Amino acid sequence: MTALLTVSDLRLRYPGGGFRKPSPEVLKGVSLEIAPGETLGLVGESGSGKTTLGRAVLGLAAPTGGSMVFGGKDITRMPQRQRRPLAQDLQVVFQDPYTSLNPALQIADILSEPLIAQGVDANEARKRVGELLDRVQLPANAAERYPREFSGGQRQRVAIARAVALKPKLIVCDEPVSALDLTTQARVLELLIELQRSTGVSYLFITHDLSVVRHISHRVAVMYRGELVETGPVAEVTNNPKNEYTQRLLLAAPTADPDRQRERREARRQLLAAAG
Ligand SMILES: Nc1ncnc2c1ncn2[C@@H]1O[C@H](COP(=O)(O)OP(=O)(O)O)[C@@H](O)[C@H]1O
Ligand SMILES: [Mg+2]
Repeated sequence: MTALLTVSDLRLRYPGGGFRKPSPEVLKGVSLEIAPGETLGLVGESGSGKTTLGRAVLGLAAPTGGSMVFGGKDITRMPQRQRRPLAQDLQVVFQDPYTSLNPALQIADILSEPLIAQGVDANEARKRVGELLDRVQLPANAAERYPREFSGGQRQRVAIARAVALKPKLIVCDEPVSALDLTTQARVLELLIELQRSTGVSYLFITHDLSVVRHISHRVAVMYRGELVETGPVAEVTNNPKNEYTQRLLLAAPTADPDRQRERREARRQLLAAAG
């Protein structure tokens, strides 16, 4: 099957630095593919470049090298005006639903905005808002309320409803459950999985949390200092990691089981000792 998104040797340096002191390269030749209906989990420690990769795909950060092809179109250096129609196919859910939803707008307006921008008339938009709320399991009367009236998990449901409103092919999810408590995390992940089952949407799912990535991904890509050090099926990467950084990342992940924790501590000690 042809990939929905193909990223090839992507490089990115944020502007700044200058002639004498170039700014550091944040993405150092990243290559990945996402198939239709697939979730690629992108994991790595804070500062490794995960958000930057997501922003590049969304056209919010300009690559300095390499290429990105989405739905057969080269989007590497696509100007904003040409990007606009892409909004239909490419959406985003950010970590913080408190800042990503306009506090001055009722939920109905937040959800109908993208529909109306794509030419859906107001009556049809109102009907679709009701359907969207239902899809993300929010009550119909949520439409007349404001973001501040909801919990973090409910707000993230609103953000997800907005992202799926135009039936996109890919949603970049950047730490979408990291601000939520564990029970709420699990429910929101279930919702994302259910939406994928029913619509065939693909996810680029960015997280620092390996237990989250295990839950939702088909494949996992591990980022370390701007490079992908390992990519593979989720079970392979998380049960039998080949790369030493992936092994360390897995050992650093918390586990509820004290025996398992003791094993991990020992394995970590041995790895560190071996590394010198
Ligand atoms: N807008 C920006 N301008 C300059 N440097 C940035 C910007 N955003 C992120 N960085 C730097 O790029 C690197 C990667 O950051 P980021 O992509 O946010 O990583 P992650 O999402 O994995 O935590 C970090 O060193 C960060 O300081
Ligand atoms: Mg980030």
